[in-house]
Amino acid sequence: MKKDKYIKELGSFLKEAKTPYHAVSLTAQLLTKAGFSELAESDAWQVKPGGRYYVSRNGSSIIAFSVPKSSKLHSFSIVAAHSDSPTFRVKENAELAVAGQYVKLNIEGYGGAILSTWLDRPLGIAGRVFVEEEGRITEKLVDLDTTVVIPNLAIHMNREINDGYKWNKQVDLLPLFGGSEAAGSFDKAVIAKAGAGKNGLLGKDLVLYCPEELKVWGPKGEFCSAPRLDDLASAFAGLSAITENPVSADAVNVLAIFDNEEVGSLTAQGADSTFLYDVLQRIRIAMKASEEDYYRAISESFLISADNAHAVHPNHAEKSDENNRPYLNGGFVVKYSANQKYTTSGKSAAYLKKLCKSAGVTAQVFANRSDMAGGSTLGNISNAHVSISSVDVGLPQLAMHSAYETMGTKDLSDMIAMMREFYK
Ligand code: CO
Repeated sequence: MKKDKYIKELGSFLKEAKTPYHAVSLTAQLLTKAGFSELAESDAWQVKPGGRYYVSRNGSSIIAFSVPKSSKLHSFSIVAAHSDSPTFRVKENAELAVAGQYVKLNIEGYGGAILSTWLDRPLGIAGRVFVEEEGRITEKLVDLDTTVVIPNLAIHMNREINDGYKWNKQVDLLPLFGGSEAAGSFDKAVIAKAGAGKNGLLGKDLVLYCPEELKVWGPKGEFCSAPRLDDLASAFAGLSAITENPVSADAVNVLAIFDNEEVGSLTAQGADSTFLYDVLQRIRIAMKASEEDYYRAISESFLISADNAHAVHPNHAEKSDENNRPYLNGGFVVKYSANQKYTTSGKSAAYLKKLCKSAGVTAQVFANRSDMAGGSTLGNISNAHVSISSVDVGLPQLAMHSAYETMGTKDLSDMIAMMREFYK
């Protein structure tokens, strides 16, 4: 069954994609396996009709594309998702000693996590390091293969814990790393994993991650839970669609996976950077199309911004809009916002509906309650740099930004089917 195949593959993807660096590296590997070739931003680009390529920036954002067989620049069909999830970054000079008895780690929050979900569970530490090898700086992915735990205070010592306790990130959320004998060993562990000498380690970006594996559950296997579903499930959907699809006859198919969505996207590799614009322009140049051809193509292009959406909560159905209520397994979601936090319009929704019809899938609708602000996402931010007709979609899920999120097992294959149709 397709449904189970994709969920199983998503499980393996999430397990390896423990940080945005790991997610992008894994995406690059899967693209290579599917016949895509890597391009570097620093190289001159040569592209062939029917060719498939990818380029990454900062090791944490990646854009894959395929050149149409016609080799004429007609339009871009773009799917966007994000590689990052809320987590905690390990600070420089990480070790904090407690009375010479414990070593804990100094961390800071990244994005808007549901803080309580990170306590009392085994957590890993992974990311990337920069080492000097033969006079050059090289980047390496690392996993410290260690477990840390952020322990709760016992209820006897914190009687308000169940009365809406306010967590202090500098006090309550520092993970316990080791006992007295662990003093000085954190940096040593990083250096050892980096395979660098004492002075060889030049830089690091390390974060906590939840190592829990994807679990399918429910009497009919209707649900699954895993870390980082927002938004790696959408990134995985886009990746499946672009790798499975034959090259389009006339559109340049593009998959853009951006880092830093959870902190506002305004970085050199985020959706609020020129990364997408730069890549589209370079595709235009490599296809030997004129600047005018580019703007004509942009006017014919379409963007599907894919970021997870809130399903109706079983214990808090009142938090959803009165009649725009997506449920798990009701299909992926089209998101609307009058204030344009989501880019969907009647016009772009019409195009999407037509796509869904051809793909044989149906979509649900999401709108925030009018008295709730809701979140923002990639579509409107990316539109500030490359302004094209777009729609916001997402997989319905529960507990967004928890260390362990839940979604339906049926919706993913529907979204992939829609994206495949889009890339045709
Ligand atoms: Co998201």
